[in-house]
Amino acid sequence: MEKNQLAKGIHWVGAVDWDVRDFHGYSTYKGTSYNAFLIVDEKITLVDTVKRSHMDQLLYNISQIIDPVEIDYLVVNHVELDHSGCIPEIIDLIKPEKIICSPMGEKALVAHFHQDDWPFEVVKSGTEISLGKRTMQFIETRMLHWPDSMFTYLKEDGILFSSDAFGQHLASTERFDDEIELSEIMKESEKYYANILNLFSPLIQKLLKSIAEMNLDLKMIAPDHGVIWRQNQEKIIEAYDKWSKAESSKKALVIYDSMWHSTEKMAQAIANGLEAEGVPAELINMKVHHRSDVMTKVLDARAIILGSSTLNNGILPRMAGFLMYMKGLKPANKFGAAFGSFGWSGEAVGILNSMMEDMKIDLIGEGLRLKYVPTDESIAECRDYGRTLAKAINEQDNN
Ligand code: FEO
Repeated sequence: MEKNQLAKGIHWVGAVDWDVRDFHGYSTYKGTSYNAFLIVDEKITLVDTVKRSHMDQLLYNISQIIDPVEIDYLVVNHVELDHSGCIPEIIDLIKPEKIICSPMGEKALVAHFHQDDWPFEVVKSGTEISLGKRTMQFIETRMLHWPDSMFTYLKEDGILFSSDAFGQHLASTERFDDEIELSEIMKESEKYYANILNLFSPLIQKLLKSIAEMNLDLKMIAPDHGVIWRQNQEKIIEAYDKWSKAESSKKALVIYDSMWHSTEKMAQAIANGLEAEGVPAELINMKVHHRSDVMTKVLDARAIILGSSTLNNGILPRMAGFLMYMKGLKPANKFGAAFGSFGWSGEAVGILNSMMEDMKIDLIGEGLRLKYVPTDESIAECRDYGRTLAKAINEQDNN
């Protein structure tokens, strides 16, 4: 089998983006790939395309197998521009007989590219289209993670083209999960889930149940980013089940920013108190951590303890940015508490509490505020506060 071949007549023809380091505020330190797939059958079919900047790579990869103008069908599983940016040029070139998409996909394509005379073939969940020897079956996955999203299942080969689901932002020369260390792929899958899909967890639970009921023979799961799952399909499905149930470990994150180290000293003492009562506590200084790495840690943490100095009657901007980001991703089943040093007005703790209430985080107590620089006594108070938080976490853990 050739390097980019999934099965006889089915090829990866996407593009690797080695350079991208920011994806809507998500730090993609390892780049990504925009996966597209070519099915050579009686009807030659291209499943998804790539970001506009990478169109030449897509066309080069296709041309190693067939002349791109021979493509009959274009399947658009998802309209976000990292998978559709070059669609107008591709359609001009290949003039497909059908552009296959979901009902919301047609609307989104028209809204993006303003061409309502393209040959749309709108499919719903359960619709099947024959390619000759093979059959494509479609599964709408509305809001996972856009209204237009859908999966394409190639029945005879047992390949699920899963669009963004089960992906990783990971640039690599390898195409399959058994060619890279599994721990690295799972780590990037977890980060991807935490930063893109977490807010849709209830829908993902439903989707996993309906896929299980369909009893699909999943020989491969081919997402639109990262490597293709051909050995560890069950592991990534189990991981999605765990993440979407918002299961967490007995662990606290003490996430803070500090002006003159007073809030930082409080953070350290609170963490000592948590640890003293058996709750592992990780200190996260927002001056040195990227919001998307912190969000990945939030996925698995039971408690989120937030600290900020008061600045101009508010909270420090790195904390504000992180909390706005976290709010959108809707973390579930978390405990929270707030702390911070202040000079005269001291609003930060109240603001942190109110932001956590907005996120439906269960607050433990009213928070801890200290004026200016902590004394030995106030550091002891912070340790006691950490112990109090740990006892509440332990109590919930035992229930
Ligand atoms: Fe990879 Fe929702 O785009």
